[in-house]
Amino acid sequence: MATSLPKRIGKREHPAARRVDLPDREETAMTDAEVEAASLSALAEAEANCTRCPLYRDATQVVPGEGHRQARMMVVGEQPGDKEDLAGRPFVGPAGRLFDAALVQAGIPRDQIFITNAVKHFKFEPRGKRRLHRTPNAGEIDRCKWWLGQELKLVAPAVLVAMGATALRGLLGRPTTISSLRGKTGRIEDGTPLVATVHPSWLLRIRDAETREKERMAFMADLRRAWKMAG
Ligand code: URA
Repeated sequence: MATSLPKRIGKREHPAARRVDLPDREETAMTDAEVEAASLSALAEAEANCTRCPLYRDATQVVPGEGHRQARMMVVGEQPGDKEDLAGRPFVGPAGRLFDAALVQAGIPRDQIFITNAVKHFKFEPRGKRRLHRTPNAGEIDRCKWWLGQELKLVAPAVLVAMGATALRGLLGRPTTISSLRGKTGRIEDGTPLVATVHPSWLLRIRDAETREKERMAFMADLRRAWKMAG
């Protein structure tokens, strides 16, 4: 199934595809071996000290993944938004509300899945009193992939859902479009099946009500398919 993008972002190169060289991380950073975690709570503590990319400097806090520790389905978003950054929890803002409603309608209990983001700190641009979302670049996604890999090891889901291009890059390690994988089953490096779908924030930006509803139904169908695959 092809995914039609709103014209505004349709042709533009997604930042997730752009190679960006980041400066070396700060010297206070722990090595990967030191933070190899034995539990999700230990992982969250280690993530709180992350300096792998500069995003930690401006964010309020890290937003680790949350959910069932043996979830059969793991859903990956882009990065925390303003509300998530303040709450320290993923998908609690407007996109989270849309996501929650879709889960309910699809018959998927949120407490039975694991929800996380490809990038664990909020990237934004200050605009007066507001903080405007900025899409993470390829360097930031690739640096944060280490944490996503840790979550994958600990939860070991039977199926993954990538919501949007940033999540796809985080899981596959290379730029891939949602439309090229939508309706098919991809695989990450260790063989775990992957369902690609749109990001709930993208659904929120569709102005035409009829189109939005059609795309929301397609999003729900993707979630349902993944849930079925998870057994
Ligand atoms: N968008 C995301 O990708 N993740 C969140 O946690 C919230 C909004």
